[in-house]
Amino acid sequence: MVLGTPTGPATATTPSTLQSCTPITSKSANGMRAKLLPPTVAGVDEASERLRSGKLLAFPTETVYGLGANALIESAVVSIFACKGRPMTDPLIIHIPDAASALDCVEFASAAAGEGMSEGRAVFERLTEVFWPGALTIVAKAKKHIPSKVSAGTGFVGVRCPSHPLAQRILAACGVPVAAPSANRFGHVSPTKAAHVMKDLGMSDIAVMNGEDKRELFAVPTCEIGIESTVVKINDETREVIVLRRGAITQRELEEAMRGLGGRGRGGEVFERIVEWKVVIVNTHEEMKGGEEDGDGRVVKKRRKIENAEVVKGEGHVAPGQLLTHYAPDGMDCFLVRPNKLKTNNELDRLKHKVQELGVEGATGGACVVIDFNGALAGCGLGEGCRGVVGYKDLSKKGIVKEAAKNLFAFLRWSEELRGEAGRVLIADIAVVKDSDEVAGVSDRCFRSASGKVIELK
Ligand code: TXA
Ligand code: MG
Repeated sequence: MVLGTPTGPATATTPSTLQSCTPITSKSANGMRAKLLPPTVAGVDEASERLRSGKLLAFPTETVYGLGANALIESAVVSIFACKGRPMTDPLIIHIPDAASALDCVEFASAAAGEGMSEGRAVFERLTEVFWPGALTIVAKAKKHIPSKVSAGTGFVGVRCPSHPLAQRILAACGVPVAAPSANRFGHVSPTKAAHVMKDLGMSDIAVMNGEDKRELFAVPTCEIGIESTVVKINDETREVIVLRRGAITQRELEEAMRGLGGRGRGGEVFERIVEWKVVIVNTHEEMKGGEEDGDGRVVKKRRKIENAEVVKGEGHVAPGQLLTHYAPDGMDCFLVRPNKLKTNNELDRLKHKVQELGVEGATGGACVVIDFNGALAGCGLGEGCRGVVGYKDLSKKGIVKEAAKNLFAFLRWSEELRGEAGRVLIADIAVVKDSDEVAGVSDRCFRSASGKVIELK
């Protein structure tokens, strides 16, 4: 069964183009420089004033926390990259409170004679009507006044209108477009709690709007979705909506929206023509699978490791930020585990027996933390209390994909706390356990957190 020694721990490379963070000048007793803001009227005022004046603010959205700065002040935009340690080749998303504000940032080809709007603009109208406010980022041509640092020189920029009431409130109050990537250290797991942001970026000169502080007006759940927005690009020339990053909004939902379900149809016959547009997915983790066997019949497969740099080069059509190694827990080596391509209960029982015989260390190459889905790994002998399993959590005991999405990043961060006791994290390959349209976004994050490395149990 099992084994083999796949590639070493997943660590994101640190590009040489990075600028270091601004030096720390004043620290609190615990070494933190960041300031937590309460979700109160005064807190929102302070947050929006910070943004207007070019300072950094981390804030919650319905997907993950973002690290925001005024998108129109170039030095503020540069400070986002510096704070995160993010390469400047990776463009930022601009957050705005409504579709009208988005049209101050992006533009579309002019309408043909006698038509109210171009097809690209009609697609934008349709998508924003159906999905905004919400977890859809739309990439289109950037208007001239958007600093090129935001679009990483691509000439295209993503716009997103978050639905979280606190994010909405801040965006409306500050009155400027806010560039914001996820508020984590580059390559690390995206944050779904203020504490995650503090852990990664607390030593920097930022303020963090504390969405978990339930004391006041905006006491609503933060990061309900738990994985980042779906990113699409509107391509007039090919008449395609290109999915650059999968997320909570699925390909099927996008296709339905394009077929006119839910759209308002303003613009007449142009809307009839966008029905012919295609929704295509690029840069999927499936494309990144190289799939080498390890030579002597063992069940660990090494996936082709695509160097981060190579993927970054794919500017222009793919999402430059879609690296194979992403969401990696610090100091842990992650693997996807394919638990039950096995057809029968008998086969599962046999497998469980084998794993128990070998012990988890023997079966999977070392002590590990298990992140399960729907009890699938527990069913193969990788459950709580098994020898060698030093920590066990189930993303969704009932197999609900939305619940798994909401838990995933917090669980990956939890695994780091056990790194003294185990070096490996085994994550159930959710795409194998459950085959559904909405699985793609979660499965993509799991795949990247494991840098595509798979242990196949047989
Ligand atoms: O849910 C979200 O989208 C969160 C919250 C904070 O809004 N933001 C977020 O941003 O995930 P970030 O920067 O961590 O990921 C955005 C990704 C980029 O890495 C890149 O892959 C893609 O979206 N992207 C952004 N602008 C793009 C552009 N102009 N062209 C191509 N891809 C772009
Ligand atoms: Mg990110």
